[in-house]
Amino acid sequence: MNIAIISRGEALYSTQSILKAGTARNHVMEVLDPSHCALSIENGKSVVRYHEELVEDLDAIIPRIGASNTYFGTSLVRHFNSKGVFTVVSADAILQSRDKWTCTQLLANANVPIPKTILGMNSNIASLLSNFKDQAVIIKILEGTHGNGVILAETYLNALSTIETLKTAGIKFLLQEYISESKGTDLRVIVVNGVVVTAMKRQSMEGDFRSNLHRGGSSEKIKLTSEEESVALQAAKAMRLGVCGVDILKSKRGPLVLEINSSPGLEGIENTTGVNVSKSIISYIEKNKI
Ligand SMILES: Nc1ncnc2c1ncn2[C@@H]1O[C@H](COP(=O)(O)OP(=O)(O)O)[C@@H](O)[C@H]1O
Ligand SMILES: [Mg+2]
Repeated sequence: MNIAIISRGEALYSTQSILKAGTARNHVMEVLDPSHCALSIENGKSVVRYHEELVEDLDAIIPRIGASNTYFGTSLVRHFNSKGVFTVVSADAILQSRDKWTCTQLLANANVPIPKTILGMNSNIASLLSNFKDQAVIIKILEGTHGNGVILAETYLNALSTIETLKTAGIKFLLQEYISESKGTDLRVIVVNGVVVTAMKRQSMEGDFRSNLHRGGSSEKIKLTSEEESVALQAAKAMRLGVCGVDILKSKRGPLVLEINSSPGLEGIENTTGVNVSKSIISYIEKNKI
């Protein structure tokens, strides 16, 4: 098959890993950098040009759309989709998972357990904060990644002044119950085509509460409990993502889903667990194209 990875980073570990897995299965693999793609509708048909050349022979795409490129990246995915090219994650699913509030709403609709979360659009800040009864509260901007844009406000005054600042800057945010018992750890679960492929536990750097590996966290391979596994699968299904990374916090009341990533980084998970996630992504395409 002809398979393209949609990515601005050909040299990135994740892109290289998928290229290698596809080539090993004798597929013709290429990387399409969205910044060199042009989209048009001609005679009612979706047309994609890459460096001026028509792209017409693709069987499947693997979108790896960065947060800075969401609009054009998802538009490109939708264009390929309308040309009948199979995609492992749809444009709508990418958009829905990228916005933390939309993601929270969809997870809740599907009865996936999540921390108590409130959209910070109410003008009465005292009333917003009264939901957390003087407890520490997490404040998140809606489209942050890699732990940037997540704040732990440990006092009422911290929370109040942070919220006032975000409102003044016109930044949308949500408030979330702080799950202190997770102690800076979370679980990253990779789900491909409705199956858990592998999972790791991430631990934040000393003194931080954010376990993102980009922030210097450490990781180890783990075996999930059946409850954790079923919550991860429920979450992937709710967000209609064929490939995703589900982040779970262990809480006193069981596993809670924090967020879902439609382009999960592969370096940390493959190196930590020794599992070839890229190979599962290629098999998913093979199963769906037969
Ligand atoms: N409600 C919470 N309670 C405890 N820790 C949290 C909470 N929300 C986020 N964290 C910690 O912060 C990290 C980053 O938060 P997350 O919502 O995943 O944002 P990002 O998209 O930036 O990764 C999480 O992996 C987790 O370690
Ligand atoms: Mg995260």
